[in-house]
Amino acid sequence: MNDNEKVDKTRRNLVVATSVVGGAAGVGVAVPFAASMWPSERARAAGAPVEFDLSRIAPGELNVVEWRGKPVWVLKRTKEMLESLKTVEPRLSDPQSKASDQPKYAENEYRSRNPDLLVLVGVCTHLGCSPQEKPAEAKAEMGADWPGGFYCPCHGSKFDLAGRVFSGSPAPLNLVVPPYTMADGKLVIGEDEKTKGA
Ligand code: FES
Repeated sequence: MNDNEKVDKTRRNLVVATSVVGGAAGVGVAVPFAASMWPSERARAAGAPVEFDLSRIAPGELNVVEWRGKPVWVLKRTKEMLESLKTVEPRLSDPQSKASDQPKYAENEYRSRNPDLLVLVGVCTHLGCSPQEKPAEAKAEMGADWPGGFYCPCHGSKFDLAGRVFSGSPAPLNLVVPPYTMADGKLVIGEDEKTKGA
């Protein structure tokens, strides 16, 4: 298989994975896949940063962007979603994200630069499946105390709306926050002050 074929295969797999995310939300939550924002195949395969136009995302909406062959979630959290982060803390394995992977500017209660915008690598820290969005409205499926978050169907790991893993899940760590910057209504994933100078 040559390089182009490998890239095509990765892209096909990713489209399948993100389609599953959208379909599995189960309560009408659409997960737009920002294909139009992709850089060239060659740049993408090399891990180039990808841009996302923040004017395209509405409160409560999850978008999926491809970066380095992985799905990166961009979730614009509502006030209710942000409030759930505090109440859920006693149920989490690493509520302060001390053992988990995020840039310095995401070492806070929201795991993000701006509280309302969550940027996460959508890959489970157990064995690498892509979890599904399960909003607070999915209580019938997830249980009466479900605050909204993400569910990995492979082995049942659960994550809150900051990607923090629930106690008792097989996943050992919170989901990874990638490097990113935000300016002029534009999100750039894969690059920040630190990596630019590297
Ligand atoms: S890969 Fe997610 S729970 Fe196993």
